Order: sequence, then C-alpha cells, then structure tokens
Amino acid sequence: MIDHYLEKGTMYVLEDGNVKAECVVTDEDNGMLEIKNIAVDPQNQGQGYGKALIDFLASKYADEYSILQVGTGDSPLTVPFYENCGFVRSHNIPNFFTDNYDHPIYECGVQLIDMVYLQRCL
Ligand SMILES: CC(C)(COP(=O)(O)OP(=O)(O)OC[C@H]1O[C@@H](n2cnc3c(N)ncnc32)[C@H](O)[C@@H]1OP(=O)(O)O)[C@@H](O)C(=O)NCCC(=O)NCCS
Repeated sequence: MIDHYLEKGTMYVLEDGNVKAECVVTDEDNGMLEIKNIAVDPQNQGQGYGKALIDFLASKYADEYSILQVGTGDSPLTVPFYENCGFVRSHNIPNFFTDNYDHPIYECGVQLIDMVYLQRCL
C-alpha cells in the first residue's frame, strides 16, 4: 500500500533535537491534500508533536488547497486524535482493510475493517 503513494508523496520530518515525527502528503486533485501516513516516535507520543505537524501542514498549504483529508481505521487510537485536530468524518470505504491486507489488523483489540475518511477545511 505504501508503494502506491510513496513516489508521488512529499515527506516531512519534525525535528526537535532529534526526529520526533514524520508524515507524507499527496495531491489528490480538486484542491484536496491527503495525509497518507503520520507517525510520532512512540516515546514522544502525547506531547503535541502530531498536532504540531498537522497544524504545520494546514498553514503551509492553506493557499494551495481547500481540504486536508486523511484516511484511517475506525480506531480509538487515531479518530479522536484527528477530531481533536479539527477534522470531521466525511465518508467510509467499506472493507478496505480486509480487502487490501493479507492479514487481520487489530488496534485496541478491535479489528480494523472500513477505511474512515476525515476532512479539515483549510
Ligand atoms: C496518532 C498519533 C500520530 C498522534 O500524535 P501525538 O503526537 O501522539 O498526538 P498529540 O500529542 O499531538 O495529540 C493532540 C491532541 O489529540 C489528543 N489525542 C491524541 N491521541 C488521542 C487518542 N487516542 N484519544 C483521544 N485523544 C487523543 C491529545 O490528547 C491532544 O489533545 P490536546 O491538544 O487537547 O492536549 C501518534 O500517537 C502515533 O504516531 N500513533 C502511531 C501511528 C499511527 O497510528 N498513526 C496514524 C495512522 S492513521
């Protein structure tokens, strides 16, 4: 799945002394920028780095794009984070995780099935 977007994506790394977080964004046409992945170093999660990266993207791309979008599993580890960062649920792709991965993925004991898209206006 990563190979599908890596070549066309732009990667950002947040450094604060050393690397704390990264993300990759892609141009999805029609004024939409999509976050394809975002990850904060496990030892530095919950310290505002993820939100800082999102706010950086929102401010950097506000003049070029109208919507910042992200797709994620319906997980209590990710959806509340994005909602806290100003995203609202937009639409789902049913069975995305079961159709595209050769093994079940669990977060917090819950199997990820559908892809949930959230959007934030820029
Ligand atoms: C999800 C992730 C990117 C969030 O980054 P982070 O740096 O830990 O989050 P932040 O500290 O910036 O949190 C920002 C706000 O969201 C809230 N938040 C973060 N995760 C949350 C959760 N699971 N449930 C509820 N609130 C959450 C924080 O409390 C914080 O609120 P505040 O601004 O009111 O203090 C990070 O935890 C991570 O890398 N997880 C593993 C990889 C992953 O799941 N990536 C997403 C793939 S879609």
